Amino acid sequence: MKGIILAGGAGTRLYPLTKVTSKQLLPVYNKPMIQYPLETLIKAGIRDILIIVAPDHAGDFLKCLGSGREYGCHFTYEIQDKPEGIAQAFMIGEDFIDQDNVTLILGDNLYEDDFSEAIKTFKSGGRIFAKKVTDPQRFGVVEFDANNKAISIEEKPKVPKSNYSVTGLYIYDSTVVDKVKALKFSDRGELEITDVNNLYLKEGSLDVAFVEGKWFDTGTFESMHEAISFARDRHLAKEARSL
Ligand code: TTP
Repeated sequence: MKGIILAGGAGTRLYPLTKVTSKQLLPVYNKPMIQYPLETLIKAGIRDILIIVAPDHAGDFLKCLGSGREYGCHFTYEIQDKPEGIAQAFMIGEDFIDQDNVTLILGDNLYEDDFSEAIKTFKSGGRIFAKKVTDPQRFGVVEFDANNKAISIEEKPKVPKSNYSVTGLYIYDSTVVDKVKALKFSDRGELEITDVNNLYLKEGSLDVAFVEGKWFDTGTFESMHEAISFARDRHLAKEARSL
């Protein structure tokens, strides 16, 4: 299993914080934001990791994370020239993925869960992770039938069919690259991850699992503030345990 951290994007909702640096390099309590998704991948046993960044602050990511040796990992870096969608990560990462399965995590998503089992048991198709939220309009939304089987996924719907949002960690087999190549840009000019998920859904090979612990998408001031409080509580609890 290979890993990709997608850490490009414009970060306009966090302006002016993102005027001089990338969102994913901003502090979340005592670490740069990107370190949280990195630790999620490492905890899940992934060591070969591609980090995709925007051109403006690419050197700062290299300075921040280095070669990966410090973490017992191997890091590769690629540039996404323009923020043309989350799904574009698989085209940028085509050579890196090769014939392997791949886990993509967004550089601004913070998870409490351990994904080791979900990754170990993954064979083929796609596996995504949903979470009940109060503001589903902001996300991809999963509709379930009476047997809890996913039947549709809609990107930022005005009238959501459920409160279950698709979160920012996705596991796919290597067919994801060809799936993305066949996509058309959406009206907002992006290759949509929701379109990828719908292709797997149509094939009957999409598994929708659930996030059990806390999950934060730190793209707004409010969610970033919550994530910082969570990271602080977790850090202080860990310190107290080690006394
Ligand atoms: P978003 O939060 O949807 O976009 P953004 O980071 O550009 O922020 P804003 O909407 O405030 O302008 O992106 C979610 C994550 O995916 C984030 O870590 C950035 C990353 N991303 C890319 O790296 N490239 C892309 O083309 C897109 C759309 C997102």
